[in-house]
Amino acid sequence: MGKAHSNAWRNVASFFDVPAFEQKVLVGRDATQVAEAAAKYGWAESATDWRSVLERDDIDIVDICAPGWMHAEIAIAALEAGKHVLVEKPLANTLAEAEAMTDAAATARSKGMQSMIGFNYRRVPALALARELIAEGRLGTVRHIRAAYLQDWLSDAQSPMTWRLRKETAGSGALGDIASHAIDQIQYLTGQTILETSGVLKTFIAQRPGPNGTEDVTVDDAAWATLWLTGDMGGSVEASRVATGQKNSLRIEVYGTDGALTFDLESLNELNFLDATAPVREQGFRRILVNEPEHPYLEAWWPQGHIIGWEHTFTHQIRDFLIAIDTGQAPSPSFEDGLQVQRVLAAVEASANNKSTITAVADPAPASEGA
Ligand SMILES: NC(=O)c1ccc[n+]([C@@H]2O[C@H](COP(=O)([O-])OP(=O)(O)OC[C@H]3O[C@@H](n4cnc5c(N)ncnc54)[C@H](O)[C@@H]3O)[C@@H](O)[C@H]2O)c1
Repeated sequence: MGKAHSNAWRNVASFFDVPAFEQKVLVGRDATQVAEAAAKYGWAESATDWRSVLERDDIDIVDICAPGWMHAEIAIAALEAGKHVLVEKPLANTLAEAEAMTDAAATARSKGMQSMIGFNYRRVPALALARELIAEGRLGTVRHIRAAYLQDWLSDAQSPMTWRLRKETAGSGALGDIASHAIDQIQYLTGQTILETSGVLKTFIAQRPGPNGTEDVTVDDAAWATLWLTGDMGGSVEASRVATGQKNSLRIEVYGTDGALTFDLESLNELNFLDATAPVREQGFRRILVNEPEHPYLEAWWPQGHIIGWEHTFTHQIRDFLIAIDTGQAPSPSFEDGLQVQRVLAAVEASANNKSTITAVADPAPASEGA
């Protein structure tokens, strides 16, 4: 993510009107490697101690791309030091950490500091368009939504241990890593809030080779959950990192009384729309190539049909964050939105640990407006 975010910081001002900023310091663990990365990715300096960087008066924005177990500590310290904070998803590894971060963000907001979580798929133009179409009523009343995020990079039982496979460093497996994106999309697209869930978590490969021999995998390889939302809406979410053959497929389907939408991240410039109010003999899904200047974010890029990619979502994210800081308007998705996703993750896990009992999502917050 350090590479993806750096790329966005480096090119955002070339495409969008954003307030002036400088890429100051890249922080990592290894002095030599982080110095090389800083030079390559456009940062003026590098450092290995994030705390000392937070003490600097010439640092106004902190962008956290470290693993989840560090999010709370760095984000809270940065907000308390008077910095604006962008943090990668999921907000944290535990509900308690996510709550503490959200409290710190609320206090900081009252002093003018902004905070945002990096659910970058909100910045896929096709999904931003999908949200607009749903909000405009083009699907009528949405009855249900499906989201499946499927990858296969852990299909091989010999894939080695990483921080992502240990509960103490990752919080959870496919659930927190990628179902978090899908859950955010479900709430973002529909404008509804998930109220209750029934979940199943499964670890197919219980041990993997680690640096010191075989190690237990302590997180899920795959997760499934049925969902019930405000607005009498149903939903389902599925996530897997062992879905053989699926590289990075986030599939979303939305079904309403007057229409339907389908999307797949592996074809991210396309949105499929069915207008069920058309005469039945003419009905069928049509493929919208979301590449017109009228579409969200596209005016800044290339001529029609000259498609964009995954990396552009991060540029859009930085653009929106900088403009929010400049205008003083709270950016979206907020830490509150991240906390609401964290509550759903916790409820899915609790349900899965209790034979899939239908479990309430604690203290659901109203879905915030998308930026
Ligand atoms: N939005 C997305 O699509 C997306 C995709 C992948 C990962 N992520 C999220 O991004 C975050 C990082 O994931 P990743 O895949 O880039 O992980 P990674 O393991 O590839 O990179 C983590 C980086 O954090 C650095 N780091 C660790 N401890 C540090 C410390 N004490 N001080 C400074 N730097 C430190 C490491 O040196 C490394 O460069 C996670 O929260 C993950 O969930 C988001």
